[in-house]
Amino acid sequence: MQNKPFMTKLSVNINKIATIRNARGGNMPDVLQAAKDCERFGAQGVTVHPRPDERHIRYQDVRDIRPVITTEFNIEGYPSESFISLVLEVKPHQVTLVPDPPGVLTSNAGWDTIKNETFLKEVIALFRKNNIRTSIFIDANPEMIRNAAKTGTDRVELYTESYAKNYPVNKEDAIGPFIVAAKIASEVGLGLNAGHDLDLNNLKYFAQNIPGILEVSIGHALISDALYFGLENAIQLYLRQLRV
Ligand code: PXP
Repeated sequence: MQNKPFMTKLSVNINKIATIRNARGGNMPDVLQAAKDCERFGAQGVTVHPRPDERHIRYQDVRDIRPVITTEFNIEGYPSESFISLVLEVKPHQVTLVPDPPGVLTSNAGWDTIKNETFLKEVIALFRKNNIRTSIFIDANPEMIRNAAKTGTDRVELYTESYAKNYPVNKEDAIGPFIVAAKIASEVGLGLNAGHDLDLNNLKYFAQNIPGILEVSIGHALISDALYFGLENAIQLYLRQLRV
């Protein structure tokens, strides 16, 4: 069998580990150790999403995690002034910009790359000047993806919530818009990431049908699975889904 030129990378979002720690105010579980362990257990990256209220990952966590990461560190968030300063200070390998309003429970929409084109262009230029790869969170919407290329971003992260929701109903229908989206991203020269609500049931089919996907970032389901399987086994199970 011919080797694939690359395998989709798994970046583990460790926000939920910080949520558990914060519930008691101490340092259990240890978020820094968890970041190291995700790498040790095979993940090719670690993602954090510091929010303004620091309800899970805190700004200081982001500073502390940076030096221990040997694979890829991805920071997600809305590009507020404080977020931008943090990212420029910490210099991760990748920043993923999301359009979340501050109090939202979780990311719930992709960027409108037409309305926000000028804003995104400015922010992305700043990160690129500092050698930080950029990705923007986006719906599987052809118009938004075509316009994303005008912002200067290196990659887009496809927002997979609709795929995950529709997968149990009709997987062919669920994946359809993402196949189109991936094709357009490739035509306009954008690298492709994906994330949100991916899990052990739906990940393999996604990876099989979107062969050019560079990276998936997965948090909620993987950390939940780790309660039953342990973190190492959970990461290995997810990696196995990506070997298609
Ligand atoms: N990508 C983005 C932009 C997100 O905001 C999140 C959730 O923090 C994820 C991916 C991961 O989603 P999930 O926790 O459902 O795996």
